[in-house]
Amino acid sequence: MATEHTLSIIKPDATKRNLTGKINAKFEDAGLRIVAQKRIQLTKAQAGEFYKVHAERPFYDELCEFMASGPVVVQVLEGDGAIAKNREVMGATNPADADAGTIRAEFSESVGENSVHGSDAPETAREEIAYFFSGLEIVG
Ligand code: CMP
Repeated sequence: MATEHTLSIIKPDATKRNLTGKINAKFEDAGLRIVAQKRIQLTKAQAGEFYKVHAERPFYDELCEFMASGPVVVQVLEGDGAIAKNREVMGATNPADADAGTIRAEFSESVGENSVHGSDAPETAREEIAYFFSGLEIVG
C-alpha cells in the first residue's frame, strides 16, 4: 500500500481534558507517524472556512463555535494507507456507533464533540494539510 499523508485534528473537547498524549499514542500504536504537529486556537471564521463543505448542514454553526471554543492540535499523520488507517483508529463519527478500542469510543462525548477529525480521501487530505501547514513544516 502506498505511503500517504492525512490531516488530523485533536478537537477542543479532547485538548481541554488533557488527552493529546493518549490520542497520539493510539496513532503511534497503529503505525501512524506524526510528521507535523502544532497546537493552535482557531477563530470561528477559520473553523468555518475549514468546514465549508458542511455549510448547509443544520449543525454547521454549532460545529464552528465548538471548534473555536478552545485549542486544537493539528497534525499530519504519515503511513501506509494513512487516510483509511486513521479513520479506523478514530472510529465512527458518532461515538455511540464507534468500535471498542477506537479513539471516539474511548474518549468522545457526543457526535458534535467527537475528539478528532481525519481527512476522508486523498484530495481532501491534500487540501486540509495545505490549510494548516507549509511543506517546510512536514518532516517525515
Ligand atoms: P468531523 O469528522 O470533524 O467532520 C464533520 C463534523 O461535524 C463531525 O466530525 C462532527 O464533529 C460534526 N457533526 C457531524 N454530525 C453532527 C451532528 N448531527 N450534530 C453535530 N455535529 C455533527
